[in-house]
Amino acid sequence: MSSPGTKRKRDWYDWHAPYDDPSSGLSRRLAWVTDRLRVALDEAPAGPVRLLSLCAGQGHDVLGVLPDHPRRGDVAARLVEFDPRNTEVARQVAARVGLTVGTGPGTVEIVTGDASLTSQYADFVPADVVLACGMFGNMADADIERVTGYCTQLCATGGTVIWTRGRSLKHAEDPVPRLCAWFEERGFERTWLSSREYQQCCGTHRFTGTPEPLERDATMFTFTR
Ligand SMILES: C[S@@+](CC[C@H](N)C(=O)[O-])C[C@H]1O[C@@H](n2cnc3c(N)ncnc32)[C@H](O)[C@@H]1O
Repeated sequence: MSSPGTKRKRDWYDWHAPYDDPSSGLSRRLAWVTDRLRVALDEAPAGPVRLLSLCAGQGHDVLGVLPDHPRRGDVAARLVEFDPRNTEVARQVAARVGLTVGTGPGTVEIVTGDASLTSQYADFVPADVVLACGMFGNMADADIERVTGYCTQLCATGGTVIWTRGRSLKHAEDPVPRLCAWFEERGFERTWLSSREYQQCCGTHRFTGTPEPLERDATMFTFTR
């Protein structure tokens, strides 16, 4: 038990448990993310496709879509996740659904490491699809805005960022319009947003600009819990 005044750290393995319940809000959110990922892959230009997932957790989204997607053989996916228990689950699921763990087109690379470091992506950007799911609710606004800025380095022209953000219905101010504005000030156009009626929110933004060179050895964000 934590003593008064101390805050228990979030267990990022246990965090995934509501995915087991198809009626949970997290499962609804996953359905949005996987639908949008399918669309982004459907629309990706012919040839190799780079798919990046930051703070990938157990990879439910990517590993749920790739096995049946017609572009599977073109996609090189890189999942970056800090907690080794989660990357172990991702590896097991990848094997179970018949995906090859490796590097290059037709494979999924599962990296146990710090997704905040630009060095994780130096050989992989610009990517055609960037997943930033389950991140923005865990960092300060200044870091969220910084990440939208780094998306102009991570994302290829025409590429899609798929993101999630809780709407925090209890608070007067909905953070989603602010997040959309940060993307849209940086050359992204909104292509989809989930319904306002749910606490969970998923959105997609397509990059219309030219990617900036990746800043070397930078830290993009810090989780606050
Ligand atoms: C809210 S969960 C989201 C997981 C997954 N993206 C999803 O939507 O199912 C956040 C994840 O970020 C991971 N994480 C936190 N800080 C990280 C960091 N600096 N680098 C990589 N992963 C990190 C946690 O271990 C956790 O699995």
